Amino acid sequence: MLAFLSLFFVGLAAAYPNRGACTGDCWTKDPTVIQRNSDGKYFRFATGTGIPVITADSIKGPWKEVGKALPNGSKINVDGVDAADIWAPDVHLSGDTYYMYYVLSKLGTQNSQIGVATSKTLAPGSWTDHGIVGIPQNSAYNRIDPNWVKIDGKEYLNFGSFWGDIYQVQLETPLKVGSNTPHQIAFNETLNHREEGAFQYQHGDYHYLFISVGIAGGYTKTTPAEGAEYHINVCRSSGGSGGFVDKSGKDCLKTGGTTILSSHGQVFGPGGQGVLNDKDLGPVLYYHYYPLATKQAGGDADGVNSGYKFSWNQLTFTDGWPVVSA
Ligand SMILES: *[C@@H]1O[C@H](CO)[C@@H](O)[C@H](O)[C@H]1NC(C)=O
Ligand SMILES: *[C@@H]1O[C@H](CO)[C@@H](O)[C@H](O)[C@H]1NC(C)=O
Repeated sequence: MLAFLSLFFVGLAAAYPNRGACTGDCWTKDPTVIQRNSDGKYFRFATGTGIPVITADSIKGPWKEVGKALPNGSKINVDGVDAADIWAPDVHLSGDTYYMYYVLSKLGTQNSQIGVATSKTLAPGSWTDHGIVGIPQNSAYNRIDPNWVKIDGKEYLNFGSFWGDIYQVQLETPLKVGSNTPHQIAFNETLNHREEGAFQYQHGDYHYLFISVGIAGGYTKTTPAEGAEYHINVCRSSGGSGGFVDKSGKDCLKTGGTTILSSHGQVFGPGGQGVLNDKDLGPVLYYHYYPLATKQAGGDADGVNSGYKFSWNQLTFTDGWPVVSA
């Protein structure tokens, strides 16, 4: 029996491959990673004062902070929020311009706004802020965690966190929502609806919606019930604007979602993810996690944002579903 049990647990522990290497400046929270078109250089942006710009020649690093994208903060005014305290950037290239959607928000409230900035090079000093994109205020959702997506030539923003979870809205221009109305694309009906940080990625015949679900942080103050901490779920749809289901066919508007990455080894509470179509490695799932050793040591001074680390794994697709690979 003991031998069986230990084999069983070894089996569980081996369910995920090791996280990808990271050297240099590996601190991150809610990262977005893009390879610059001109030279293939990796740029990583994340939650943090002025949005730190961190670059490397490989996804493994060594990563180095080279400055801030919006050192003087955003022009958006959210009551009680420092304009340089910017969250969850999402960066993509469209034509010859890089667009960065970002968030100003008061933690745990619907007092939030999504804004946008542009650059031709991604480098510090090259960003122009354009302020709010104009998603209408609504008690059904929280305007955080933007993710730009292009579907059949039209541009959309996914966003949302808790309340009604994940919404999608068409963009009238890359800088403005205009008169378009958001619609819900994923929802966990139970408890306090712990879904956020959506990232949509098209592969083959499907659009895949990766979602961070569970308790996002504060792990050193209160240890979540086992498995209730952040992990990454996926849903897929052929149209990309709705009809998302999980691997068992369950509707993702009705608590569906298939877990593809959860705590293992030093990786505690993986989330804040995105997918990079790496020029050499193909699809790469990147994410932040809280090192188990830091948690066991009682965490870091602020217990909120420090301590989170960047990691990644290649993604392969089996029978039309993504699998986290070595
Ligand atoms: C930030 O503000 C300082 C002082 O007003 C100004 O000199 C600098 O150019 C600003 N930087 C950016 C990127 O706008
Ligand atoms: C929905 O939320 C409950 C409560 O937090 C959680 O136990 C469950 O795993 C969630 N379902 C999905 C698909 O995320």
